[in-house]
Amino acid sequence: MPELSLESLPETITRNLSRNLCVCYDVPRQEVIECILQGASTWEEVSDKTYACQGSGCCERQVKRLVEQINELKAQNSSD
Ligand code: FES
Repeated sequence: MPELSLESLPETITRNLSRNLCVCYDVPRQEVIECILQGASTWEEVSDKTYACQGSGCCERQVKRLVEQINELKAQNSSD
C-alpha cells in the first residue's frame, strides 16, 4: 500500500507550505509536515527534529494539530 506523501495530503494541510509555521525558529510548514510523514508521532518529536516550538512555544498548537491530522490520515491509509 502506498505511503502517504506530501502530494496526497488534502489542500487544507498543504496550503502555505513555504511559509514559516514556527516564526521563532524559521521552520517552514513543509518541514514540519515532512517530519510527521517520516514518522514523528508527537509534537515533541517534531520539535526535537525541526526546532519548531522551541522559541516561546507559540506554534505548539499548530504543530499538535498537524500531528493529529496527518496521523489520522496515516491510520486511515493503512486500514484501506
Ligand atoms: S513560533 Fe514556534 S516557538 Fe514561536
